Amino acid sequence: QRRVRIGDLQRAKQDGRPWAMLTSYDQYTAAIFESAGIDVLLVGDSAANNVYGYETTIGVTVEELVPLARAVVRATRRAFVVADLPFGSYESGPEQALATAVRFLKKTGCHAVKVEGGVRTAPQIEAITAAGIPVMAHIGFTPQSEHALGGYRVQGRGVAAEALLADAHAVATAGAFAVVLEMVPGELAGRVTKELSIPTVGIGAGPECDAQVLVWQDLAGLRTGPLPRFVKQYADLAGELRRAAETYAGDVREGRFPTAEHTFGNGRTNPS
Ligand code: KIV
Ligand code: NA
Repeated sequence: QRRVRIGDLQRAKQDGRPWAMLTSYDQYTAAIFESAGIDVLLVGDSAANNVYGYETTIGVTVEELVPLARAVVRATRRAFVVADLPFGSYESGPEQALATAVRFLKKTGCHAVKVEGGVRTAPQIEAITAAGIPVMAHIGFTPQSEHALGGYRVQGRGVAAEALLADAHAVATAGAFAVVLEMVPGELAGRVTKELSIPTVGIGAGPECDAQVLVWQDLAGLRTGPLPRFVKQYADLAGELRRAAETYAGDVREGRFPTAEHTFGNGRTNPS
């Protein structure tokens, strides 16, 4: 079975078939999600929070994301793998953005890169796509500019809708093959989805987007504590793993593990 391509995602929009994207940062989740029918995997800079333990995505580096993207590509055969360009690796201008994108493709084998920002990032998107590298754009709430946006808040409400529409059209015109809409009112996301010919990928942007994306640790309940309203938790991995570790620790303390079953013989009486 061949890799998913951007044309497949485009056709899905035309046919009205919504598709699902998930983050992944390692080989096991990548292989599991691919076999579950996730067509697009995002090696997000959300690895900052979900892998490296930073408080925001701002500190994570190209050097930290590259090995994760490489692992996801290696573990998959069918999924289309998108890697986030981290904060500081593309803002200086088109040349810096293209150099970083090239580095990601060469070092990881990923199939596309993602950059945050609309109108302001259009020259970067243009330069990267002109070099033959597909770009996914990301507008609305953009975590890398959290401080400028004044925290985690819905974008594009009221008069701000015009700016969001301008961002959407700018990234499409610059050549992006898809655009993430994060924390945008559902109605506005629906309007963007209708106006653009490229697929919209919603996260906190309602049901009218062409596709949806979630951070896998949120969907799987590995992250504990309050979750954003737009997350649906489909499993309780934190509870499951805690129970496994607790049971193991208790078994060791009480002498229930290991038993003869887990112990090597001397090689004469027990051939295993
Ligand atoms: O880094 C990330 O996980 C993302 C998605 C939430 C869109 O950018
Ligand atoms: Na991101």
